[in-house]
Amino acid sequence: MNCKLISVPVEQGQPVPGCALGPEALKGAGVAAALGELGHDVTDLGAVPTPAPHPVPPHANNLKHLPEISAWIEATANMAYEASADGFPIFIGGDHSISAGSVSGIARRAAEQGRPLFVLWMDAHSDFHTLDTTTSGNLHGVPLAYLCGLPGFEGYFPPLVAPLAQERVCILGLRSVDRAEREALASSPVRAYDMSTIDRKGIAPLLEAFLDEVRAANGLLHVSFDVDFLDPPLAPGVGTPVQGGATFREAHLAMEMLHESGLVASLDVVELNPTLDERGRTAGLAIELVSSLLGKTITGKRRAA
Ligand code: ARG
Ligand code: MN
Ligand code: MN
Ligand code: MN
Repeated sequence: MNCKLISVPVEQGQPVPGCALGPEALKGAGVAAALGELGHDVTDLGAVPTPAPHPVPPHANNLKHLPEISAWIEATANMAYEASADGFPIFIGGDHSISAGSVSGIARRAAEQGRPLFVLWMDAHSDFHTLDTTTSGNLHGVPLAYLCGLPGFEGYFPPLVAPLAQERVCILGLRSVDRAEREALASSPVRAYDMSTIDRKGIAPLLEAFLDEVRAANGLLHVSFDVDFLDPPLAPGVGTPVQGGATFREAHLAMEMLHESGLVASLDVVELNPTLDERGRTAGLAIELVSSLLGKTITGKRRAA
């Protein structure tokens, strides 16, 4: 597997400084070496160049850094489209607004290839606000709604070439969903599994059922991993921690299952904020989990990807 590392050092989609240092932190903690040890080729494509802000019209809602985020989405989407021609792109954020770009570029590529794209959104939050419903104005809270083609983004975010089919989206790990998001999800076929469902049913059967659908459809799977999916004591280096998250074992199991499925074609790792981390433990765990998704096991490599 040719792993292509793409840094997207964006933090204007959320309020806490430091998230833009995520890519350097993950690289400094050895993500390339960890993947190399698994037998993968690793190419560091560097960072998406900082784009000029988009001249968007004024918006009635108080949206923070809309011209900058709109431009980053377009620039990241272009890079994602190019990088997904071959290999396994890994987008390292940066806040979760970057996934509006990475996933839209991947979706454009998948549509051209005639492959249905599925998305697994591992996150404490649903990121299912539209520009009109967000009350915080933080644009890391909107990418999934944009990608799913919800209304109100026209003229502000770049036009979507290939909106996601909502029935091919699964959110895993929820424990913070705002009222407007809850209402939008209730009338959407997006699968939204909260921690209570994970507690009752177990993460493995929930994920297995989704992977079965991807396989049956001969689909491609993009995994968007928001580090705040994890329980905050394990992963303190995030700007919007919510207690009661996925355990070390649940997270590893999910990543191992994703690897064994052979279905994952691309990955985001977002919301790591090294300035909030404790001695690099969040970055270290993120690297372990990415390694599990790319074939690392406790007793040795289970299966070549
Ligand atoms: N729902 C909240 C908001 O809109 C939090 C979003 C957090 N998103 C994230 N990618 N961490 O502000
Ligand atoms: Mn532009
Ligand atoms: Mn998120
Ligand atoms: Mn989140």
